[in-house]
Amino acid sequence: MKIVVTGATGFLGAEVVLSALRRGHCIVALGGSTLPLARAATGGDAISVRQLDLTRPDLAETLLLEEFPDAIINCVGTREPDGLDAAGDAAAAGDNAAAGGTAGDAEARATALNVEVPRRLARVAHHLSAKLVHISADSVFDGARGDYAHTDTPAPTGVFARTKADGERAVLDAARGLASVVRVPPLHGNSAGVTGGRSFHERLFARWAAGARPTLPDTVLRQPLDAGNLADVLVELCERPNLGGVWHWAGTTALTPFETARRIAERFGLDPAKFVSPAPPPPAANASPVTDATPAATAPTTAPATAPTTVSASPPPARRDLRLSLAPLAGKLRTLPLDFDSVLERLRTPPAFAAWLATQTGTAAGTRSAGAIPLLIKGRDF
Ligand SMILES: NC(=O)c1ccc[n+]([C@@H]2O[C@H](COP(=O)([O-])OP(=O)(O)OC[C@H]3O[C@@H](n4cnc5c(N)ncnc54)[C@H](OP(=O)(O)O)[C@@H]3O)[C@@H](O)[C@H]2O)c1
Repeated sequence: MKIVVTGATGFLGAEVVLSALRRGHCIVALGGSTLPLARAATGGDAISVRQLDLTRPDLAETLLLEEFPDAIINCVGTREPDGLDAAGDAAAAGDNAAAGGTAGDAEARATALNVEVPRRLARVAHHLSAKLVHISADSVFDGARGDYAHTDTPAPTGVFARTKADGERAVLDAARGLASVVRVPPLHGNSAGVTGGRSFHERLFARWAAGARPTLPDTVLRQPLDAGNLADVLVELCERPNLGGVWHWAGTTALTPFETARRIAERFGLDPAKFVSPAPPPPAANASPVTDATPAATAPTTAPATAPTTVSASPPPARRDLRLSLAPLAGKLRTLPLDFDSVLERLRTPPAFAAWLATQTGTAAGTRSAGAIPLLIKGRDF
């Protein structure tokens, strides 16, 4: 199968490329500002790489019509601030409160990447009769209830969440049955892309090595997910023509960001009490620091075809339960969801911080291996 992977230089996109190559597909890898893709280049003839600004509709459509793929996996999008972001990262995600940036710029970028790019990809996918797989987020829900079913109605509480909810609807409207949208919690793993350092534990290491003791929310419950495991799911969805619609995928262990960081510290032999602190619970009138609660004060620069999702007027609850029910998708796929021990097993010491870790733990410098991840075998595993 010929699959176009957009955002192939990103944290998830690089894993998707590797998963698709392992499963024997032919890949067109599209990067944004950086050229893909150091590790994926090992795919030889099975991969071609391009750099393309997908906010330029003319270029994107021309390339997709030329390539005529069987499927598109869209890994372009902004990322939700998670309490470890620099101000610039938060601004890019549309979290103006955290970033102190200009509301208009940040929201326009979130709208362009989370709504307009997917809408255009969905239109082209429909034109080509190609499958489109698109990634949304657990935070389209407000967290008041938890255990959300894939049929539940989103209730976003901030800019990132609203644009993800709008993106879901834009994709489903434009692709008309050819799209699978997968809502997921925060991702973990090792950055495989050329830019590196994008995952949660890699950014934790950067903060720790700089002498910081990050303060993370202990009031938001989510199911940390391995990016490689999600990548396998996204590729499997391309291989299954009938699984259109909105689905949920996540890890099987529910943890707060504070608990997650504690478990990561322990996994690398660090004393969690010295390296991570719980954030004080947010006052009821304000958002948790892990969410972007900035109300959608300005209209998107490009009017979407469908009306934008209304952002809940009330703030998110002080304690948020964003757990997702994996039914019925988990029963339909060969890829299995992972518990957090398995997610931890796969994490490697970021090479740049191996010497720092050795000084902390008194062990010889060297990266901890992620353990052997078996290659998938066609006919047996998929
Ligand atoms: N990471 C998470 O924890 C998480 C959780 C839930 C949902 N998601 C969703 O998963 C998707 C992937 O996230 P990620 O963590 O992999 O993000 P990421 O590491 O920031 O990657 C984003 C990708 O989009 C590309 N891109 C940005 N602007 C572009 C443009 N104008 N034209 C073409 N490409 C462009 C980037 O290219 P360059 O870097 O080369 O510019 C990069 O390859 C997003 O939709 C995100 O909302 C992520």
